[in-house]
Amino acid sequence: MEHEKVIKEEQQGTALVTDLTPGNSKKLFIESYGCQMNMNDSEIVASILAKEGYNTTQKLEDADLVLVNTCSIRDKAEQTIRKRLVYYNRIKEINPSMKVGVLGCMAERLKSKFLEEEKIVDLVVGPDAYRDLPNLVQEVTEGRDAVNVILSKDETYGDVSPVRLNSNGVSAFVSITRGCDNMCTFCVVPFTRGRERSRDPKSILEEIKDMADRNYKEITLLGQNVDSYLWYGGGLKKDFKKASEIAQQTAVDFAQLLDMCAVSFPKIRFRFSTSNPQDMSMSVIHTMAKHKNICKYIHLPIQSGSTTILKRMNRQHTREEYLSLVENIRKIIPDCALSQDMITGFCGETEEDHKQTLSLMEKVKYDFGFMFAYSERPGTLAAKKYEDDVPLEVKKRRLTEIINLQQKHSLYRTQQHVGKVEEVLIEGTSKKSDTHWKGRNTQNTVIVFPKEHYKLGDFVMVKVESCTSATLIGKAVGYSENN
Ligand code: SAH
Ligand code: F3S
Repeated sequence: MEHEKVIKEEQQGTALVTDLTPGNSKKLFIESYGCQMNMNDSEIVASILAKEGYNTTQKLEDADLVLVNTCSIRDKAEQTIRKRLVYYNRIKEINPSMKVGVLGCMAERLKSKFLEEEKIVDLVVGPDAYRDLPNLVQEVTEGRDAVNVILSKDETYGDVSPVRLNSNGVSAFVSITRGCDNMCTFCVVPFTRGRERSRDPKSILEEIKDMADRNYKEITLLGQNVDSYLWYGGGLKKDFKKASEIAQQTAVDFAQLLDMCAVSFPKIRFRFSTSNPQDMSMSVIHTMAKHKNICKYIHLPIQSGSTTILKRMNRQHTREEYLSLVENIRKIIPDCALSQDMITGFCGETEEDHKQTLSLMEKVKYDFGFMFAYSERPGTLAAKKYEDDVPLEVKKRRLTEIINLQQKHSLYRTQQHVGKVEEVLIEGTSKKSDTHWKGRNTQNTVIVFPKEHYKLGDFVMVKVESCTSATLIGKAVGYSENN
């Protein structure tokens, strides 16, 4: 199910629209593929271009500028985007003044190849170059192609206040780190998004304050690896002589950032994603346990249940270390939900390795998961060092096996909620019924229930009456004390 959801999102992309800035006359069509970070980056881009006279539009045919924020994580994601670009070019035949730009990971990976070989785009902009968009767009409108794919060691867009695109006005994402230093051998992200850097906590808290003032109720802190968040005072560094002094006096790690967020905004619900098992500290787990407004849910990708494969993937932990982390989480936060990312058919994966994955899943019984067949990415360490030797049918068969097992565990987990009364934040109308709200409990499980007199953004107590493997079905029994 989850796998299907991910694939579906990759195929469709999300056309993003926002409130109009009065006086802006140019039209921007911006579409996002891939992870939440990309959605958030598109909000930054829309904010930068709003100052240049652009309003977003949902009508591709009307656009002066079409931007697609791209994903390179698997070959399939790139193929989908290529098809979209061909489609944009057909529209361009009708509207020749329209300009087409590629943003994000695929722009970074393919760089000017897009202009030289493919001739289907006018503009190529990598994830750290969005501030240069006004200049680049100017170049393009003057008839020149424009490329900026320079990666940065310090760009965090900390001072850019993102306009919220397609927002429900209730939940929003706030980026806290950019890039990734982990170099998992299968992964293209360190190459497309550059070195890891953390954003100034002051600007993070200011952005959340702004969201709270506008009545947002839930914030998800985003990063490729949130647990390695570390801010050490930026410019203040030179005032201290030794690294240990910096650490003692000014450093803010992820547990401290979470604590600051939870204490400063007691009415806001906090989530975060993604956690990396190697960096998740006990202090993060204790901070989660301490605050009611930090949701009891951790997305904790493992990729494989076999230590041999984990090593080949350059993940910095064994199967046993991961299981002991899970045990600690369950000891300190007994009702904590966990989800996984898994890859089947990585280089050299044997049937025995695959069985190890199934047995790890049996031990953890994840609430949900995102599962993928390995897709070799050019330039990654795995592509250089290892042979992509598991046949596609085997990758797919193993994938089906883990998806089926996950479905069983998801149902087991949702069943544990039946009969309980849980706090739910109302996020929108249920997809299947106009008369029902949908929201999520602290564990991130979706709950639907009759609307009655409740409103979008209310915190409501819901009695869970039944479930499927993905959704809880219930009835509101009153407002939560948090309301
Ligand atoms: N730390 C990141 C991970 C980004 S990639 C985060 O914030 O989620 C998301 C998931 O895609 C990974 O956890 C992995 O399971 C999957 N993935 C990455 N590279 C892949 C590849 N080459 N083939 C198949 N799946 C891949
Ligand atoms: Fe990719 Fe591993 Fe970083 S999956 S995003 S290199 S933690």
